[in-house]
Amino acid sequence: MKIVMVGSGYVGLVSGACLADFGHDVTCIDKLEGKIEALKRGEIPIFEPGLADLVKTNAAAGRLSFTTDLSGPVSRADAVFIAVGTPSRRGDGFADLSYVYAAAREIAQALDGYTVIVTKSTVPVGTGDEVERIVRELRPEADFAVVSNPEFLREGAAIEDFKRPDRIVIGTEDLRAQGVMGDVYRPLYLNSAPILNTSRRTAELTKYAANAFLATKITFINEMADLCEQVGANVQDVARGMGLDNRIGSKFLHAGPGYGGSCFPKDTLALIKTAQDYGTPTRIVETVAAVNDQRKRAMGRKVVAACGGSVRDKTIAVLGLTFKPGTDDMRDAPSLSIVTALQDAGARIRAFDPEGMEQAKALLPPEVIYCADAYECVAGADAAVIVTEWNIFRALDLDRVRSLMNAAVLVDLRNVYRAEQVRAKGFTYVDIGRGVLEPAAKGVGQAA
Ligand code: UDX
Repeated sequence: MKIVMVGSGYVGLVSGACLADFGHDVTCIDKLEGKIEALKRGEIPIFEPGLADLVKTNAAAGRLSFTTDLSGPVSRADAVFIAVGTPSRRGDGFADLSYVYAAAREIAQALDGYTVIVTKSTVPVGTGDEVERIVRELRPEADFAVVSNPEFLREGAAIEDFKRPDRIVIGTEDLRAQGVMGDVYRPLYLNSAPILNTSRRTAELTKYAANAFLATKITFINEMADLCEQVGANVQDVARGMGLDNRIGSKFLHAGPGYGGSCFPKDTLALIKTAQDYGTPTRIVETVAAVNDQRKRAMGRKVVAACGGSVRDKTIAVLGLTFKPGTDDMRDAPSLSIVTALQDAGARIRAFDPEGMEQAKALLPPEVIYCADAYECVAGADAAVIVTEWNIFRALDLDRVRSLMNAAVLVDLRNVYRAEQVRAKGFTYVDIGRGVLEPAAKGVGQAA
């Protein structure tokens, strides 16, 4: 099959490379000439495990090519995916669809023969209808269908998620288009990935509903973690006890500093906005978004408390900046709020991240000192804070860390360590939701 991917960002590139690996003939398009030239040389603009090799292998095999010119490849394509960005619009939080609609107009001009236009970008309900209207207006005679096929790729595990998906959602009532989409994903049938054929609007909403639900799960366990700290319970055991119930499931119940990334914050806001526009506000999701925002800032206060109530003129070592491990993505990362809060409180910040420091430099205050590794980062610090659970922070030489630090305070916002292990090394150790209270501190709810 001939497939075109309009937009060679994260989703476009991963999807394009994986579809080429299935054996399809894929052309990835982008407006940025520099990016396309780099991709042709095999340089990948993002960090995603396995992606560079996948791109190289498929480009060498002649199944994957890159160009800025959309018209030729689209005219020959069976399916054209729109995988451009849909950032939150400044001001109202609604998804900015201008790139999607611009892509639709360009695709319309180039259509030749029956073509399935697929929205892969996360787009609000009704976007597919608008794409169809735009194309129909420009090319009344064109033979095409518009399908919604949302992605569910996690950064850091995107190739695995693409090749072994929990499900594939295909939103179209056009049977011919369903057939084309079936052919696109045929190799996945071998992995018996369930395919949900549904209406376009249902597919569009499914993506938002899934992300909002996952964000809710995380926020729920984060609130339980706060409660655990107060009542002297262990959130990891609470999560395990909950998660073993099949109706709940164990995933996305890791308490932490709040969710970040390119999807959850943006998609929850967009869903909230859509629901408000339709007069059916999603109050749970509104609360989740607000609670998560507050939580990221509260993590700064947690560090201040661990330092005895003030960080003025103290040095704080921040270990991990990206919103999660396995990526260089800093979008809506909790570290942004934490570093800013600590700096506002008078702290000096030293930071280290294995992949995200270049991205971080553009977003964090200029005073932050970037270090070459974790040990350099903690040198002279009055507290170290694990913000992202990169594997290298799971196996730190704690004796060495302690000897390098000015004061041995470790704030572990990802519960990477066991409290006894760290305290035995002489640290003051603060974690998330694994409160152990002295009996005297137990009060509320106790029998007299
Ligand atoms: C997410 C969805 O998982 C994916 O299906 C969707 O298509 C895009 O958004 P991603 O943003 O890459 O993927 O990361 P994910 O692994 O889902 O984590 C999102 C955030 O939640 C991170 O900040 C992570 O640290 C946090 N998280 C996740 C928790 O705090 N606890 C958890 O239990 C899981």
